[in-house]
Amino acid sequence: MARPTVVAGNWKMHGSRDTARALARAVVQGVGDATGLEVLLCPPFVHLLDVLEETAESPVQVGAQNVCDQPEGAFTGEVSVAMLAELGCSHAIIGHSERRHVYGESDELIERKFALLHQSTQQGDPDAPRAILCVGETLEEREAGRTLDVIHRQLQPARSFPDAFPRALIAYEPVWAIGTGVAATPDMAQEVHAAIRTHLEQEFGTAAQDTVVLYGGSVKAANASELFSMPDIDGGLVGGASLKADEFLSICQAVRK
Ligand code: PGA
Repeated sequence: MARPTVVAGNWKMHGSRDTARALARAVVQGVGDATGLEVLLCPPFVHLLDVLEETAESPVQVGAQNVCDQPEGAFTGEVSVAMLAELGCSHAIIGHSERRHVYGESDELIERKFALLHQSTQQGDPDAPRAILCVGETLEEREAGRTLDVIHRQLQPARSFPDAFPRALIAYEPVWAIGTGVAATPDMAQEVHAAIRTHLEQEFGTAAQDTVVLYGGSVKAANASELFSMPDIDGGLVGGASLKADEFLSICQAVRK
């Protein structure tokens, strides 16, 4: 099974309902019916419905930037897997570095989110969002030669649920490359992507060859083509550059090489 190329826009906490709608509309118009390419938009929770409406008649998918680690209950400020599924969200990003490093999310918390997303599908909700599990080292960890140790640790949620793949996706996002304008070089990223695939296969016996592994961290039109041409890089999780329709569409275009 050939892996699709996925280009996902992580809009983070930007925009208004109007700008979210306009951006989604521009992406829908610009992408058309792309073959071999999956385009995903991840707006803030409160703009999900607007973006879902704008993309309804198109192949563009809509995902959430986060999800609660509990199925339901007294969890003020949280949004559940079932709520996202009911809206029609196809994916949920979990373990983003801003969640880990700014909001102190632990590996254990992220594991519960991964488990819940996986179990929801298994418990008869085929439309439950697919997890995009983010992993990535800080600059300090890279300089200390600990990149792969950190990534292997962050992949642990998969250990108990190897059959979650290839439905689940992975995003390698080196923390030092996020929002800095300094992307990993294609070779640097490829090295880690290949290690992630090998780890999935060896440690978890999972469907590694069919699992989509995205690269994230300062992806832009100028570097997308080179990054996406690497054998184990299956697309990108794009932050800043996903907020400008032209730039994001150029990144999508980079797939059609
Ligand atoms: P960036 O963000 O493209 O702005 O570096 C990527 C991300 O955080 O997903």
